[in-house]
Amino acid sequence: MTELLFRGATVYTPDGPGEFDVTVSDGVITSVGPRGSGRGKAVDVSGNWLLPGGIDVHVHSRDPGFPDKEDFGTLTAAAAAGGVTTVVDMPNTVPAVDSAGALESKAALARSRSRVDFGLWALIRSTSTAEQLVELASAGAVGFKAYLGYSFSVSRKQVLHALDASDPDLEAPPDYGTLTRLAPAIAELGLPLVIHAEDPGILHAFRRPFETYEDVLEARPAEAESVAISATASVARQHDIHLHIAHVSSALGLQAAEEAIAAGTRLTLETCPQYLWRTEADFARLGTAMKMNPPVRRASDQQALRDALRREVISVVATDHAPHTDDEKAQDLEHAPPGTPGVQTLYLSCLELARHMGDPWLAARWVSEGPAALAGLSESKGRIAPGYDADLVVVDPTQSTTFSPKAMRSRQKHGALQGLKVSFAITSVYLRGVPIYANGRLSTRSTGRMVRPAGVPIA
Ligand code: NCD
Ligand code: ZN
Repeated sequence: MTELLFRGATVYTPDGPGEFDVTVSDGVITSVGPRGSGRGKAVDVSGNWLLPGGIDVHVHSRDPGFPDKEDFGTLTAAAAAGGVTTVVDMPNTVPAVDSAGALESKAALARSRSRVDFGLWALIRSTSTAEQLVELASAGAVGFKAYLGYSFSVSRKQVLHALDASDPDLEAPPDYGTLTRLAPAIAELGLPLVIHAEDPGILHAFRRPFETYEDVLEARPAEAESVAISATASVARQHDIHLHIAHVSSALGLQAAEEAIAAGTRLTLETCPQYLWRTEADFARLGTAMKMNPPVRRASDQQALRDALRREVISVVATDHAPHTDDEKAQDLEHAPPGTPGVQTLYLSCLELARHMGDPWLAARWVSEGPAALAGLSESKGRIAPGYDADLVVVDPTQSTTFSPKAMRSRQKHGALQGLKVSFAITSVYLRGVPIYANGRLSTRSTGRMVRPAGVPIA
């Protein structure tokens, strides 16, 4: 097969940026060497940056379940256009991914429509058994997700944002008891446990109708996050589990996490562009486009999260890409469902933030290297180095991009970052050496494959 030679770019390698030739054969990077050293069919990327493809470890494809909101086709069109070459999908699709059978059907569906590689998280229910987790792992789950405080509709096989479980169809949410019971199995499997960290007891105590954005902040206080993190960390530490905290949103949550790390917990942290770029002050302009769980909070929280990224305490930026229809989001603050799309703007928003911090190359660590480690993909993805998949993003650092609803490839056009201007543009994107996006156009091919974490035996 022809070798490809990417020449002329400044390349981000694990040792930092440099002027290198990158050769690719059969979808895999074969060499990263001095200019003029590579051989092959030349791809001239002069004046651009060459970065490892993004890995968004927190997306909601809505597929199967909610085709009006999104599906794997629209999700991964947005991903490809945004330089994200791997997505890892959350299990709250319908039917929820709580068994090997459900995971396998979802994988088949995703394979049929995905333009980028994909991995799948598995769901922990309060009734899940150790045996089910073992089967989910052999079916290829990247790890397990527990939505603390989210009930489960048994008849609909759906995770619900409902707090009270008086309805007999609603199964109680997974709680610290569930996690303690399943901890030995998770430890044995060696896969990460991800939590949606909002303590239901605290949310319950502060419930109120949403008339203003201040009501949202009061109803979902930062203590809900910090308590959930501390309690889960205590279980994880006892059983030596890798605990990953999804979408950290508050300074207090961060503090709880840092205390847990200092106490010896194997804990990684993720935050999202919306918490890094937005504060309560943006609600007047953005409205329900920035309603999500946990909420976007205050400037002091944003500052603490940016600081934690700089200190490398937070190793993953993911999007919690959670689209709804624009009609659903047009409802009032009380009724509009929580969530914002984000996969398309992940890479560029991180490059811009990293540029503000004085080192734009940090973005590749937040959206590629760190996420690869979380998903068990460190041996195949997340780096421009020999032996790694040729998932490559070509970025023009001389052109700017303004995030606008009309450029969004997701079904939901309005997101929390709309209007943000960044001083970069994505020129082209390669998945395992195949161009999937170039100069504003997606390739028509669906080429996505399922990724599985290294070291887990295939059933
Ligand atoms: C998510 C969704 O809609 O699936 N919504 C959100 O506000 N983040 C669920 C979740 O991650 O809590
Ligand atoms: Zn989510």
